[in-house]
Amino acid sequence: MKSDKQFMEFAIELAKKGIYTTSPNPSVGCIITEKNKILSKAYHLRSGSDHAEVLALKKLNKRVNSKMNMYVSLEPCCHTGKTGPCTKSIIDSGIKNVFVSTLDPNPKVKGKGVKELRNNGINVNVGLCKKKSQEINKGFFKRIIKKTPYVIAKQALSSDFKINGSKNKWISNSKSRTDVQYFRAESCAILVSSKTIKTDNPSLKVKLKKNDLGLKDNIKHPVRIVLDTNLSLDLNKYKFFKGKEKKIVFNSLLNSSDKEKNIDFIKVREDKSGLNIKTVLNILALKYEINNLFIEPGAKLLDTLLQKRLLDKLVLYQSPHAIGNLGLTTLNMENKVIKDKTIVTESIMNFSNDVRIIYKFLRK
Ligand SMILES: NC(=O)c1ccc[n+]([C@@H]2O[C@H](COP(=O)([O-])OP(=O)(O)OC[C@H]3O[C@@H](n4cnc5c(N)ncnc54)[C@H](OP(=O)(O)O)[C@@H]3O)[C@@H](O)[C@H]2O)c1
Repeated sequence: MKSDKQFMEFAIELAKKGIYTTSPNPSVGCIITEKNKILSKAYHLRSGSDHAEVLALKKLNKRVNSKMNMYVSLEPCCHTGKTGPCTKSIIDSGIKNVFVSTLDPNPKVKGKGVKELRNNGINVNVGLCKKKSQEINKGFFKRIIKKTPYVIAKQALSSDFKINGSKNKWISNSKSRTDVQYFRAESCAILVSSKTIKTDNPSLKVKLKKNDLGLKDNIKHPVRIVLDTNLSLDLNKYKFFKGKEKKIVFNSLLNSSDKEKNIDFIKVREDKSGLNIKTVLNILALKYEINNLFIEPGAKLLDTLLQKRLLDKLVLYQSPHAIGNLGLTTLNMENKVIKDKTIVTESIMNFSNDVRIIYKFLRK
């Protein structure tokens, strides 16, 4: 006999299948059960396609009866966006028992979906596995509630705490670099500095195959973002500007756009460190609906992010090799954030002879 909690955990596992494609929407899973058996299961795949509840109802090949339960990892929506309200589909279906893991923080929903179901005679239980379902949508929750994306930064370091300068390309091994691609794939956007574009000329695309991510459709490449204070980058020279994906250039000079290359130029004011990164994050959340931002900073940008306490996680890949004077010193150990107790180690893992350490920031 399975418990309601086990069914909800299953719905959350289904939701995870959407993490590479649903943004800016949250990842949501849904199952319909009867007498301890799963009759239908579905997850939200991408913005504009059926929501998980609607799809689970469509896939159900049996008449709804009062013994059926629906388990959904996020509150059903009650407004019309790109698709119609899920509450209407649920009410019309005749389902009488609905388990909702967590309320939707979106002010257009936020409890109103549950209320509408209850007003229509449906028993609604809210809160099963709430932490787990909020965790898989932490970027979505942070964007809606705090108006800033969930921010992860990564750096590859040598054993003597240096990053690559212009003379040496790779510090980490190929396994670590493949791991980075999964972080990129989960992100709505990737941000780097103009220095990194000039030194490394990265495309910032996801270099995995759709099979690696368990996808049937093409990979959704993240939005590409660069901090280029004085608009010093030649748009025809770097891979960053190639391709049809959205590119955003934050700078101190002008607001404009290049429709053909799909580039937005966004002016932000400067502070002592350079462009005001907090403003950059607010714009990314409010204008571009970026839930999860992945930053690949050099030494200076990482220092700003730490000083201003803008990170949620820091992912370090440390190689066993020293690079001495060829590298740039990073992770300024005098940085106050590193000295106090706002960082905890979330995990330590080996990638061949590299070590990956993930730090989590507790206080914002
Ligand atoms: N090992 C790794 O994982 C890794 C990752 C990324 C980069 N890198 C390497 O890092 C090197 C670049 O490092 P870096 O320390 O010279 O540069 P950085 O930290 O990548 O970027 C600093 C630059 O970003 C721009 N910027 C704008 N606003 C800023 C702010 N508020 N705070 C900080 N920077 C701001 C400025 O350039 P503008 O004035 O032009 O705007 C500034 O000079 C490259 O060699 C690259 O290969 C290594």
